[in-house]
Amino acid sequence: MIELRQEIPCDHRDTENVIREAFWNHYTPACNDHYLIHIMRDCPAFVPELDIVAVEDGRIIGNSMCLKSYIVGDDGKYYEVLSLGPIGVLPEYQHQGIGGRLIARTKEIAKELSFRGILLCGDPDYYTRQGFISAEKYEIRNAENMYADALLACELYQGAFSEISGCYYEDEIYNVDENCVKEFDKQFPTKEIVYGTPMQKKFEMMIERVKPCQR
Ligand SMILES: CC(C)(COP(=O)(O)OP(=O)(O)OC[C@H]1O[C@@H](n2cnc3c(N)ncnc32)[C@H](O)[C@@H]1OP(=O)(O)O)[C@@H](O)C(=O)NCCC(=O)NCCS
Repeated sequence: MIELRQEIPCDHRDTENVIREAFWNHYTPACNDHYLIHIMRDCPAFVPELDIVAVEDGRIIGNSMCLKSYIVGDDGKYYEVLSLGPIGVLPEYQHQGIGGRLIARTKEIAKELSFRGILLCGDPDYYTRQGFISAEKYEIRNAENMYADALLACELYQGAFSEISGCYYEDEIYNVDENCVKEFDKQFPTKEIVYGTPMQKKFEMMIERVKPCQR
């Protein structure tokens, strides 16, 4: 049986391995997400209750994490929201609903913690199946004041975003230092780096799909 629970310190390296396996060569050659989660846990915006692992027979097979972030509203106010990600499931366990369960559990706990909603940059083809819609529908733009196809939003209660329009700022920690990633990755078994896969090309095009806000 696959169970979901909060990550604990002795899980850290196993979880980093799972995220590395899930993301390796997926959106980019190699990946930086295992290093990202390594440093996220010490970030002031980290929400430990939303650091969830999927476990089968004591083995970690999936993980998702969130950070607090904010929208600067067009009314000048700051609105706290959550950023979801990374989320990953070991390749051999994908397509069994584990990713969907991690997202559903995240929403449940985030509601209990009274968060307004969740934003993320990700593949609309996947997240629209998980209750996310284009942030543009709420007039939420990225930090460059652009509407982005990959910027997706999920309200945690009805109307949570309908009164807010503005720019979404995620934590700086998501902009990882590539040299630190390379150094950190030396602690893991060597893996082949593959360039130019169809998914990498799709991702590159996806993140470029932005349009200016006319405000
Ligand atoms: C995305 C991910 C977490 C989903 O986990 P999962 O356990 O496979 O998810 P679920 O089983 O709940 O849902 C899978 C469904 O979503 C679909 N799906 C997954 N990624 C998709 C994508 N990028 N585009 C479209 N559909 C996608 C699958 O085709 C699957 O449908 P199917 O089972 O009918 O084929 C997992 O595929 C993964 O770790 N991917 C690599 C890392 C990643 O992309 N993380 C998300 C970063 S934005």
